Amino acid sequence: MKKTDQFSNYFKPGAFAIALCLGLGHLKAQTIIPIETANNALVLQAGSNKDVNTIFFGKKLANKQEYAQVAGQYKQTSDYTGQLNSIYTPSGSRNLVEPAITVTHADGNNSLDLKYVDHTVTAIDDNVSLLKIRLKDPVYNFEVTMFYKSFYKQDVIEQWTEIKHNEKGEVVLHKYASANLHLKSPHFWLNQYHGDWAKEMQPEQSEITHGIKTLDSKLGTRANLFQPSVFMISMDKPAEENEGNVLYGALEWSGNFKIDLELDYQDNLRIIAGMNNYASPYSLKPGEVFATPAFLYTFSDQGKGAASRKLQNWARNYKILNGKGDRLTLLNNWEATYFDFNEQKLAELLKDTKKLGVDFFLLDDGWFGNKYPRNSDNAALGDWQENKQKLPNGISSLIKEADQAGTRFGIWIEPEMVSPKSELYEKHPDWVVKQPKRPEYYFRQQLELDLSNPKVQDFVFGVIDGLMTKNPKLAYIKWDCNAVIYNAYSAHLKNQGHFYIDYVRGLYSVLQRIRAKYPAVPMMLCSGGGGRVDYGALQYFTEFWPSDNTDPLERIFMQWEYSYFYPAISSSNHVTDWGKQSIKFRTDVAMMGKLGFDIVVSKLPHEELQFCQEAIKNYNEVKPIIWHGDQYRLANPRSGSVASMLYVNEQKTAGVIFNYLVNYRYEEGSKYPIKLNGLDAAKKYQIKEINLFPGTKSSIDSTKTYTGDFLMKVGFNPNLNNNRTSVVLKFEEVK
Ligand code: GLA
Repeated sequence: MKKTDQFSNYFKPGAFAIALCLGLGHLKAQTIIPIETANNALVLQAGSNKDVNTIFFGKKLANKQEYAQVAGQYKQTSDYTGQLNSIYTPSGSRNLVEPAITVTHADGNNSLDLKYVDHTVTAIDDNVSLLKIRLKDPVYNFEVTMFYKSFYKQDVIEQWTEIKHNEKGEVVLHKYASANLHLKSPHFWLNQYHGDWAKEMQPEQSEITHGIKTLDSKLGTRANLFQPSVFMISMDKPAEENEGNVLYGALEWSGNFKIDLELDYQDNLRIIAGMNNYASPYSLKPGEVFATPAFLYTFSDQGKGAASRKLQNWARNYKILNGKGDRLTLLNNWEATYFDFNEQKLAELLKDTKKLGVDFFLLDDGWFGNKYPRNSDNAALGDWQENKQKLPNGISSLIKEADQAGTRFGIWIEPEMVSPKSELYEKHPDWVVKQPKRPEYYFRQQLELDLSNPKVQDFVFGVIDGLMTKNPKLAYIKWDCNAVIYNAYSAHLKNQGHFYIDYVRGLYSVLQRIRAKYPAVPMMLCSGGGGRVDYGALQYFTEFWPSDNTDPLERIFMQWEYSYFYPAISSSNHVTDWGKQSIKFRTDVAMMGKLGFDIVVSKLPHEELQFCQEAIKNYNEVKPIIWHGDQYRLANPRSGSVASMLYVNEQKTAGVIFNYLVNYRYEEGSKYPIKLNGLDAAKKYQIKEINLFPGTKSSIDSTKTYTGDFLMKVGFNPNLNNNRTSVVLKFEEVK
């Protein structure tokens, strides 16, 4: 390797381009690898020295040949290593910045270099292709394969790696990112999220400064409780809804993650994303393959709205289970009864399900445990047998009752967990995650089962399989996960460094087995609220529970933020008694995704019940648009007194707009028209208010017609005011 110093410009990108023009023999061997999607390109280059670097990321160029000339247009400071833009920065050789991979070889040596071997591109179908790039250490028998799965129409890339070696003994992986991106822009802005129970998805925006900003989780399970892995990077200036350059990123992993955003001394942004290496040095045997989860990203030069529609479209088509299918509306008993119910009470609730007009009844926590009955959250997790006092005739009889009542039945379960007060704990203390020499410490009075242990995986699979085999008509499962991991330790694993990773792999293996046998049963991904919402898990689930906080005002804000990353079809929104708003307001907000109810129907005053029944009928009409249409954020509740969200079908012939007043000060209201989006300018539309409370009249004249042009340039006023805090509008093309 040629030694360089600050006076040498050998490694300046500009010098590369000039050398190429001169046709210097040793640089001829450059290989350019473009990954192009409908609008964007990520361009990689294997240099003459076989380093593979990123040379372009952004809106694609018309002429592929010109990618080689991009670097020459940047006159930034020297890259002494020639490696700042490595596609997978190794450490211990010439690297000076945050690595993507760090290893200790079988002989104890800590250095790694990775050189281009070859690459292949496979077209999976018309829209999806897979690029594989093989990299190898010239000194050690150590190899990394980079995978880039690109989705052309959606402008989405999933990126991951496989690491393997054939050294004479085990190699220890200290860091093993999924992706290592390199972006160029004069400024970078980060949108990130933080939270806690009932406060999920709180956004923050800041300009990225030099050094490393890390987004991470060390919670093991319920990993997103304080911070999810989803984020946005705006280039140049903060992206707006309909303008600006913005990248969305997310790790498809339900455990500890680490995303380092390093603004380097050249002023470029390096994004190194993967599983968290915290307390997780991983030993790899010769020949064994270590696969990292996918890091997912999309880029838009037309703002956050376009980026989110790309991601939502991708998720429905390729990731979320049954993303293009239907969903079931429901009545849940959690807030209606908590742990206090019996067969008779449930039979009444089953009838209410039918009366309300939703698709099924969901029995929540509290149905199990006999030696230690589940009458509060301090016992019985793990003992998944029906409590004989509450349910003397078991779940099967409830399913029969549901059948008779003309509805269906679903159930809550938290299968990864164990209560210290449970028969399971007494029988299998070695299955429990806890430190052998330290006192136990609880989160919500419970502990995890050690899913790195195949016997525990069999048990968890067996619990679900048992429920489904005994009750083939079970219509739905709500899979909860209410604790984080304290005292991480597995009695099964020899190497504790593997625990956090093998736990999640164990969980996925169970979910794969469940899906192999029960491909279609709808399952909700719940984690004490939104503690586990990620695309690693969502491939096994039809929907997620955003938060236990169902106060509709809070939900407007939360659902808004989730919607940047997840499609409405996956967001379970329930009408509950949280919040001070009317039943209309609560129902309108819950309709913006997958609608459910968690209220005592029998206690609803007549008009409220009538309203709910009508609203469900309306929902059944518009739900295909909400679930499968395009979503446009029209008025951001964080920047004004009004929130407005629009969904339109693919043909742009029909849609629905949800409008809310989020500030109740004197004379607040929708003072200005709200500009619609996503319509056909040439089409004519009629707008009608739906979800009217019995006895009220709409102030919207539904006989008027407007062109799409008018509605998108001038807008439409939903007439929000202190008496009309929630207005749902349906629009349709008129010919
Ligand atoms: C968690 C879930 C709730 C409910 C309770 C039951 O908090 O998020 O929806 O199921 O558990 O204990």
